[in-house]
Amino acid sequence: MNTKKKKIAFVSGGSKGIGLAIVHKMLEQNYQVITCGRSLDDWNKAKTKNPELDEVDFIKTDLCDKQELNKLFATIKKKYGHLNAAVNNAAVQILAKGQFTDISEDILRQNLDSDLWMPIMCIKKELELMLSEGGSIVNVTSISGVIPTPDAAMYSAAKYGLEGLTKTLALELIDKNIRLNTVAPGPIMTPRWEKRVKKQDCEEIYAGVAARSPMKRFGTPEEVAAGVLWLLSDEASYVLGHTLIIDGGMSLRGNV
Ligand SMILES: NC(=O)c1ccc[n+]([C@@H]2O[C@H](COP(=O)([O-])OP(=O)(O)OC[C@H]3O[C@@H](n4cnc5c(N)ncnc54)[C@H](OP(=O)(O)O)[C@@H]3O)[C@@H](O)[C@H]2O)c1
Repeated sequence: MNTKKKKIAFVSGGSKGIGLAIVHKMLEQNYQVITCGRSLDDWNKAKTKNPELDEVDFIKTDLCDKQELNKLFATIKKKYGHLNAAVNNAAVQILAKGQFTDISEDILRQNLDSDLWMPIMCIKKELELMLSEGGSIVNVTSISGVIPTPDAAMYSAAKYGLEGLTKTLALELIDKNIRLNTVAPGPIMTPRWEKRVKKQDCEEIYAGVAARSPMKRFGTPEEVAAGVLWLLSDEASYVLGHTLIIDGGMSLRGNV
C-alpha cells in the first residue's frame, strides 16, 4: 500500500486533450487531482470512458469569469489548504485567426483574455496556495510563443507573454521554493484539431503538418503530458524558467 502523503495538484482544462492526458498521468503518480472546465457534460463523458477519473475533483468553472475563478480557488483552499503543483493548460480554440488588421478589437481582446489573462489570474491564486510549502508550476504555452506565427499574431503575443511571465516569476519565486517552467507544444491531436479535421479536408491538414514537421506527424496529448509531469517532479529540481519544446522538431526548421 502506498502510504506517502498525496501531493495536491490543480490542472486547468482537464476534461479534454492535453489537460486530460495530464490528469491521467497525475493519477498514475498518486497525486490528488483537482481540475475544471466550463462543461460538466464533457467531463461526464470523459468519466464514462475513464472510470478512474472518479477520483478527480472536477469543479465546473469558466476561468474567464473572475467570480467563478475566485470561487474555484476559495473551494480549493477550503478543501485542501494548499497546492503542491499546478498546470495552467486551459484555453479556448484560437479565436483571432487571419490578418491582424482584419480582426475586430473584441476578438483580439477575447484571445488575450483566454490565452494570457486567464492563466495570469490562475497563477496569482496558485501562488497564494504554494507560499507555505513551496511547489511547482508548469504553464502550457506553444511554439507560437517562441517563434512568430503568421495569421495568429494575437495568439502568438499571448503565448510569448506567458513565456516572459513564467521566466520572470521563476526568478522572483525560487527563494520561496516555487519553481516555474513552461511546456511549448507543436501540433497535438486534441479536440480542437479534431473539430478542424471534421470541418476541413483532413488530407490537407495532415499533409500540411507532415510537410512542416521533421517527424511528419501530430504529437499526442500523452507526449506533452510526459514533459509536464517531469517538469513538475523532483527529478527536474534543478530546472527553472525553462521552455520544454515538444513539437517533433517542427520549430527547428522555423515552422509553426
Ligand atoms: N493542440 C495543439 O495543437 C496545441 C498546440 C500548442 C499549444 N497548445 C496549448 O495547449 C493547451 C491545451 O490545448 P488542447 O488542444 O488540449 O485544448 P482543447 O482540446 O480545446 O481543451 C481545452 C481544455 O480547456 C478547457 N477550457 C477552455 N476554456 C476554458 C475556460 N474559459 N475556463 C475553464 N476551462 C476552459 C476545456 O474545457 P471546456 O471546453 O469544458 O471549458 C478543455 O478541458 C492550450 O493552452 C493550447 O493553447 C495546444
